[in-house]
Amino acid sequence: MHVTMIGTGYVGLVSGACFADFGHDVICIDKDASKIERLKSGGIPIYEPGLDLLVAQNVKAGRLSFDTEAAAAVKKADAVFIAVGTPSRRGDGHADLSYVYAAAEEIAGLLDGFTVIVTKSTVPVGTGDEIERIIKAKRPDAQFAVVSNPEFLREGAAIEDFKRPDRVVVGLEDERARPVMTELYRPLYLNETPIVFTSRRTSELIKYAANAFLALKITYINEIADLCEALGADVQQVAKGIGLDKRIGGKFLNAGPGYGGSCFPKDTLALVRTATDAGSPVRLIETTVEINDARKKAMSAKVAKALDGDLAGKTVGVLGLTFKPNTDDMRDAPALDIIPALQKLGAKVQAYDPEGEEAKHMLTDVDFKADAYEAATGADVLVIITEWDQFRALDLDRVKSLMISPTLVDLRNIYKPEDLRSRGFKYASIGRA
Ligand code: UDX
Repeated sequence: MHVTMIGTGYVGLVSGACFADFGHDVICIDKDASKIERLKSGGIPIYEPGLDLLVAQNVKAGRLSFDTEAAAAVKKADAVFIAVGTPSRRGDGHADLSYVYAAAEEIAGLLDGFTVIVTKSTVPVGTGDEIERIIKAKRPDAQFAVVSNPEFLREGAAIEDFKRPDRVVVGLEDERARPVMTELYRPLYLNETPIVFTSRRTSELIKYAANAFLALKITYINEIADLCEALGADVQQVAKGIGLDKRIGGKFLNAGPGYGGSCFPKDTLALVRTATDAGSPVRLIETTVEINDARKKAMSAKVAKALDGDLAGKTVGVLGLTFKPNTDDMRDAPALDIIPALQKLGAKVQAYDPEGEEAKHMLTDVDFKADAYEAATGADVLVIITEWDQFRALDLDRVKSLMISPTLVDLRNIYKPEDLRSRGFKYASIGRA
């Protein structure tokens, strides 16, 4: 199959590289000439484990290439994927679809022969209908079908998620698209991955409903964690105890400082707006958004409490800034709320993250350090915000010797309270009294 990917951001690049690895001929398009130049010369603009190798292998095999011009690629494509950004629109929280519709306009002018146009971007229900309308208006003669095929990729595990997904969702209205989509995902059929064929609107909603449910699940365990602290119970045991019930499931029950990232905050907000507009509000998700926003800011009080309520003039060492480990992504990272809140309470912040280069432009008055031990040096309290593996195996005696007072606030529960206390640390975590 000939595949064209419009938009070579996170989703477009991972999907393009994986489709090429399935054996398809893939061209990834992006308007950003410097990004395409970088990809052409072997560079990878994002940090995602395994992606550099996957891209290099498929470029070498002649199945994957990059271009700034869509014309030739769209003309020969069996399937054109729209994988451009859909950020939250300033002011109202709706998804901003201007890039999606601009891509549809451009594709319309280039179509040649029957082509399946697939939205990979997360788009509100009804976007596929609008894309169809835009293309028909511009090219009444064009032979095409618009399909919804949402991605469920987790950053840091995106290649695995693409190649071994729990399911693939395909929403279509035109049966001519079915054999094309089936052929694209043929390697997954061999793995017996369920492929859910459904209507386009249903598929668009599945993506939002899935992400909102996961955000709700995290928020639920976060509230239970607070209750555990109040009642003297242990949230990890509660999570295990409820998660073994197959109806609940053990995943996404790690209590923490609140969810962040490029998807959950944006998609929950967009679902709330869509549902309100449709006259069918999703109050559970409205509340989830509120609780999560408040939670991130409230983490500073937990740090203050570890120092008997007073952060004025204290030095806080922070470990981990990205919204989760194995990514360089800072979008809606809890650190972006927690650190300014700590500073507001009078703390000086020094921080380290293995990939948090971007954080340097997003945070002010933070002293960025070269490793975890430097971040601990001279600190009154050390706070783990993101659970990078390298923070799980710190030389705790060294950390203790470097700090002014050995106090650790572990917002990801990566240490055992008894271990830390037996080593002479004052230790606070989430939901473990
Ligand atoms: C998510 C979805 O998992 C993915 O299917 C979708 O396509 C895009 O959004 P991602 O944002 O990459 O993926 O990361 P994910 O691993 O889901 O984590 C999101 C946030 O939730 C992170 O801030 C993470 O720390 C937090 N989280 C996750 C928890 O606090 N507890 C958990 O148990 C799981």
